[in-house]
Amino acid sequence: MTRRQFILFLVTLLTAAVICAAGFVFTLWKDRSYFTSPTYTRVDDERTNVLVVCYSRSGNTLAMAKEIARSFKAELILLEAKAYGLDFEGWNNANDDSWDRLPAVIDPDRLDMSSYNLVFLGSPIWWYRPAPPLWTFVEKNDFRGKAVILFNTFNSRFKSKEIDAFAKLVESKGGKLVDHVHVRRGRIFNQIGGGEFVEEVRKLLRKRVERWKTMIAPNTKTSRHS
Ligand SMILES: Cc1cc2nc3c(=O)[nH]c(=O)nc-3n(C[C@H](O)[C@H](O)[C@H](O)COP(=O)(O)O)c2cc1C
Repeated sequence: MTRRQFILFLVTLLTAAVICAAGFVFTLWKDRSYFTSPTYTRVDDERTNVLVVCYSRSGNTLAMAKEIARSFKAELILLEAKAYGLDFEGWNNANDDSWDRLPAVIDPDRLDMSSYNLVFLGSPIWWYRPAPPLWTFVEKNDFRGKAVILFNTFNSRFKSKEIDAFAKLVESKGGKLVDHVHVRRGRIFNQIGGGEFVEEVRKLLRKRVERWKTMIAPNTKTSRHS
């Protein structure tokens, strides 16, 4: 290798390293940003048989949960998982636990769901599957006789076989996954903004809510759509 080729090689290597480091820093910085969505306040004395349960690390899936809850005047329960905070450690734990398919420590972990017959379960997608808090919640609760609708937000991709595995887990707890809805935000360098995201969610719900409402009528047969 000539001296000139060596210098060229070094410059290329350094440029690649700088681009990788900048990408990593940008990803971490972006990952720390929390999306604060429009508030949802439920009128306490309105009883519905619909429950929305959601885990959200950075606010996007919560925004979707609020829109769903608003459509049904439903109770909304937010699952907390302290291990997955918005700092580097939280990000690291989130990666490790979802990659290794570990259970999560969540609060609340058990709910009395006896008065509900339609339960929405929401989370971000981590490593192509719903995030660990949602699996743990299903593991720990009784879904006998309940129709379940899974909702997810994600950047670019999830795997259908993971959704099928989630449906099986719901089934093993006595419930039935009757629908799966999801909103793609786009890859980290090219994501839709909060306002546009909420609009996407509302557009999706306009198409589905009437059909879902038939599921909470007594003696309604259900089938899964995707
Ligand atoms: C640890 C981790 C893993 C992720 N894995 C994926 C993935 O496999 N596919 C994808 O499209 N997005 C992935 N994402 C992006 C999130 O799904 C996306 O940003 C989601 O909308 C965040 O929702 P939240 O704001 O409710 O936490 C991942 C994010 C984190 C933190």
